[in-house]
This record gives sequence, C-alpha cells and structure tokens, in this order.
Amino acid sequence: MELRKYWPIVLTVLTIWPAVAADLIDRPCAVRQVKSGQVCVCTAEYCDTITRKPPESGTFVSYVSSEEGLRFHKTVGSVTKYTKGSIYKNVLELDVGTQYQTVNGFGGAVTDAASINWKNLTDHRLMDHLIESYCGDSGIQYNMLRVPIGGTDFSTHGYAYNELPENDVTLSNFTLAYEDYEYKIPMIKACMKAASAPIHIVSATWSPPIWMKTNDAYSGHSKLRKEYRQTYADYHYKFLEHYAAEGIPVWGMSISNEPLHSSVNYIPAKINNMGWTLDDMSEYIMKNLGPTLRGNHSNFKHVKIIAGDDLRFTITLFWNTFVAVYPETLEYLDGAAVHYYMSAYVPAAILSQAMEGYPGKFVLATEICAGALPSDAVKVDIGSWSRAQLYVNDIMQNLGNDVIGWLDWNMCLNTEGKPSYIDSSVDSPILVNAEDGEFYKQPMFYAIGHFSKFVPRGSRRIKVNVDCGTKIQNIAFLTPHNTVVVVIHNEGPNETVRLRLGDEEAQLLINANSITTVEMLNNGQQVKLFFSVFLYYIFYFLVLM
Ligand SMILES: *[C@@H]1O[C@H](CO)[C@@H](O)[C@H](O)[C@H]1NC(C)=O
Ligand SMILES: *[C@@H]1O[C@H](CO)[C@@H](O)[C@H](O)[C@H]1NC(C)=O
Ligand SMILES: *[C@@H]1O[C@H](CO)[C@@H](O)[C@H](O)[C@H]1NC(C)=O
Ligand SMILES: *[C@@H]1O[C@H](CO)[C@@H](O)[C@H](O)[C@H]1NC(C)=O
Repeated sequence: MELRKYWPIVLTVLTIWPAVAADLIDRPCAVRQVKSGQVCVCTAEYCDTITRKPPESGTFVSYVSSEEGLRFHKTVGSVTKYTKGSIYKNVLELDVGTQYQTVNGFGGAVTDAASINWKNLTDHRLMDHLIESYCGDSGIQYNMLRVPIGGTDFSTHGYAYNELPENDVTLSNFTLAYEDYEYKIPMIKACMKAASAPIHIVSATWSPPIWMKTNDAYSGHSKLRKEYRQTYADYHYKFLEHYAAEGIPVWGMSISNEPLHSSVNYIPAKINNMGWTLDDMSEYIMKNLGPTLRGNHSNFKHVKIIAGDDLRFTITLFWNTFVAVYPETLEYLDGAAVHYYMSAYVPAAILSQAMEGYPGKFVLATEICAGALPSDAVKVDIGSWSRAQLYVNDIMQNLGNDVIGWLDWNMCLNTEGKPSYIDSSVDSPILVNAEDGEFYKQPMFYAIGHFSKFVPRGSRRIKVNVDCGTKIQNIAFLTPHNTVVVVIHNEGPNETVRLRLGDEEAQLLINANSITTVEMLNNGQQVKLFFSVFLYYIFYFLVLM
C-alpha cells in the first residue's frame, strides 16, 4: 500500500485537530458560593482550564467573565461587513495603524508566602493545577515573575543573605537561603516548565543584611551605610550568579523595593526595607551598581536596571527628578517601576509622560494587591467581584498609559491572607486551603487572565476611537498572531458593542458587570491562505489521487 495516499488525511487531521482539541479540553469552573461572591474550586481531581481558540476567517472568539458567574465563557461569533449609520452608541473603532508600547508580559510574585502555601498543598496533582492555572497553556499564561532577593514582609521571619559574618565586604559567606531552595526556586522552575514562553523575572531587595544599614534592623527608618555601597552592588551581582547557577536567569532588577517607604519619617516603617535619597541612589547607580553590572567582566550586562519600584506618584521623583538632576544615570537605567497602592489619587497620565523624550526606556507595574490599605477593613474578601474590577481598572490604567508589563503581588496566600512575620494580611487571586486539600481561584484571577492569556509578549497596544457617550472601558492590542485583541470592562448594565476593524465588524452583547476579551483576525489573509492549502489537500485527495 502506498503511504503517499494517506498523507493528505494525516495533514487534514493535523490541521483541524488543534481547534477540535481546544474545544474538547476546556473544563468549566467548579463554582462555590462564598461570603462575597463566587470562587472556582480546584481539588487534586479537578481544576478548571481555558484554552485559547484561534479565530478562523469570518469569525471572532469572545471570552466572558461576569459578576453573575461566567468564567472565561467562550463563544464564536461572525464577523460581518461594517455598515455605517449606527443604531447603537458603543462603536469602538480599532485603529491598527496607530500603535503604542510593545507588551513585555504579565505575572505575579513568588514570595516566601506564595511558595510556602503552594508547597503546603503537598499533593502533586494540586500543586500542578496551581502552576498550570497560572503559567500553562490551559491557564492564564504568565510570562513574568517577581522574585524578592531575600525576605519580605510576606516571609516567616526577617532575613537576608550573608548575615554573618558581619561587616564582610567580600561577602565571603553568600549563599541562598533555605526558602530559596525549599520554596521559591521549585515554584519558579515549575512555572518555567509549564510556560510556553520564556519567563522574564524581575527582582528586588527589601532589606540587605542589617550590618549594611544605618539602623541595624530589618524594618524602621534606615539608609545604606556609605562604606557598603559597593558591597550592596556586589550582593546583587552574587544573587544573579546564584540564581543563574540554579538555571534561573533574571531579566530585570530594581534598586530596592519601595525606597521611599523607610526614608520618610511619618510612615511607620513596619515592613523590612531600606530608604534612599535621590543623591545617594544616583551615586550608587553611577559608581557602583551600573559599573558592576555593565563592566567588562560582568556576565549580566543584559539585566535591566530599574529605578523606582514604589508608589505611582514617586515616578516623578525616581524618574523625572532623577534623570533631570542626574542625567548620567540614564546610561545605566532601563526604566522605572510603579506600585498600585494609593494610585487613585494620582493621574495615570504621569506614567506615559515620564518616558516622553527617553526612547527605549520603559515603565513596569510591579506590585498590586487588594486589602492592603489601612482603610481596607476586610483583608481577604473571598469571592469579591469588586476586587476583580479593581484589578481590571489598574491593568487598563497602566497599559493604557504605555506601561509595558504588569505584575501582581503574592501568587497565592492561605485563606487568612498569610503568612507574614509582621502579621500583615492581604488578598490574593488564589487562596490555598491546604487542610481541605483545595485552592480557590477568585474573580481577580480571571480578571488578570483576560489580559495575560490573550495579550502575548510582543503585542502592540493600538488606538481605539470611541464615539462619545460610551461607558464601556476598553483597550486593544495587535498581537504577534496578527490578531486584534480587545478587552472590554463593563461596570454597568447589558450593552451592545460594535467593534469596527477596517471594513469588518464584530457585534456583541456585553453582559452587565463583566470583563470580555474578544480576538479577531487583523485581516483574513493568513487564514485564507491556510484554508486554500486545506482545500487543495481535499481536492488532491478526491480528484488527483
Ligand atoms: C555563614 O552563614 C551561615 C548561615 O547561612 C552561618 O550559620 C554561619 O555561621 C556563617 N559563617 C560565618 C563564618 O560567619
Ligand atoms: C572594556 O573593554 C573595552 C573594549 O573591549 C575597552 O576599550 C575598555 O577600556 C575596557 N574598560 C575597562 C574598564 O577595562
Ligand atoms: C499548611 O497546612 C496545614 C494543614 O494542612 C495548616 O494547619 C497550616 O496552617 C498551613 N500553613 C500555612 C502557612 O497556611
Ligand atoms: C442581559 O443579558 C443576559 C444575556 O446575556 C440576559 O439573560 C439578561 O436578561 C439581560 N438583562 C437585562 C436587564 O436585559
């Protein structure tokens, strides 16, 4: 028998299989009604999944999550010819010709608390479900992670590397900690393994060993002792070496986490931290960190050096003031990072304005969590939809203002929002209940996924022209798949929305209080080609054989 005869069949099956398989393997949310709404429950035996269905010619694919209980509800709709003269007010015109920043990615933080909770699940099936949910192709496809250098407030004790011997300028006793080997590294590696894109890791130090600091303590108001500036730079170099030796390359590093926190006297600095003045930081970058990382003998010349890593308003200090007063630091700085807290009081436009005139420099959003502010009476608000809305608003504000990536805080916590050695407690998109052998995906998890899963690295944000009067928040991207992805946030009642792309349009009903991601082809050409090849094989099989 001639094998040649069968290859069209094989090709045909291979061509349509991904689409068929994608539809087959989605597993719906196992809903549980809880105090403030709904969560999706994952056990060793079951966990919901979501696969991206590439849109075919003439169709768009939409995914909806809503307060009412939908979670990535997938439907295929038909693209129609655009007709002028609208009966609906919500026409969003997608302008692929006007492009903004290139997206680097989305992710969360592998803190001690997150990785301790992950390991506490003990059953490998459960641990795998959590990793797959965040990093895998049937999950929300994180491609960035934030990794603290040493301990944070979400650790079980305050610590740093090379705590002993004291005043050891050569860092002769630098080793990673028990927490790295036991918790963080295994979780990072599991995510790297599950992900189909390279994971970009950003790191930051909360506090170095206390002998480097002016107050000999992990928390409180402190600065770096001047005589240890080069040691602090070497400390970071050694961290990069040790992580590289574990097979974990670091993509970017900030100078310190929340440097303002312990420099300002009226903030009660309970969290392990170290403060900086702009003078000290600029000298440190120019004379120590910059030359150490970018010097001829460095193996880490490519690691991005990031200023700020603090509240949104500090971008005017840790970038605008900084580069204006100390322009020499621009030689070393790749960008700045901002955190979510208290950003309600600060216009998001300062994010895009910060980098005007500095081509190639970026802003990254490196931290957010709900329930962290003193005004948040409820720390863990299980099932809350309004916290999902808070996340969507923050992502849209940041990405809508040219921010290239967005990272959440603790990837998971226990149902009390812990552990934390300073007795902090905050919310997390995934809550672990190790005792009952399950974990809960909160609405926040799906909120992030509406972006992280469908906006891969390399996507460009594009302009959306909106007719006045729409209450629908939106953001759109041109992806490397040559598709246009639109994320729509509706905080009001049902609405009809028309997405216009060239001479085509997608019309859809947007549910009340929902997040919708729509993916459509930028132009049918790719798929038309794909289908002509497909038709050729059928023709070949039926006629030519
Ligand atoms: C090196 O560090 C370890 C803790 O990681 C400590 O137990 C040990 O005493 C230190 N060695 C010296 C010589 O200080
Ligand atoms: C680094 O290398 C370049 C060229 O390879 C050389 O010109 C420069 O002098 C070197 N700098 C130092 C500090 O060694
Ligand atoms: C780990 O799980 C056990 C029950 O299996 C629980 O008692 C303990 O509090 C959990 N640890 C954390 C940090 O939540
Ligand atoms: C909103 O749309 C949903 C269908 O997606 C429908 O079930 C519901 O009745 C609508 N609500 C209103 C107030 O029209």
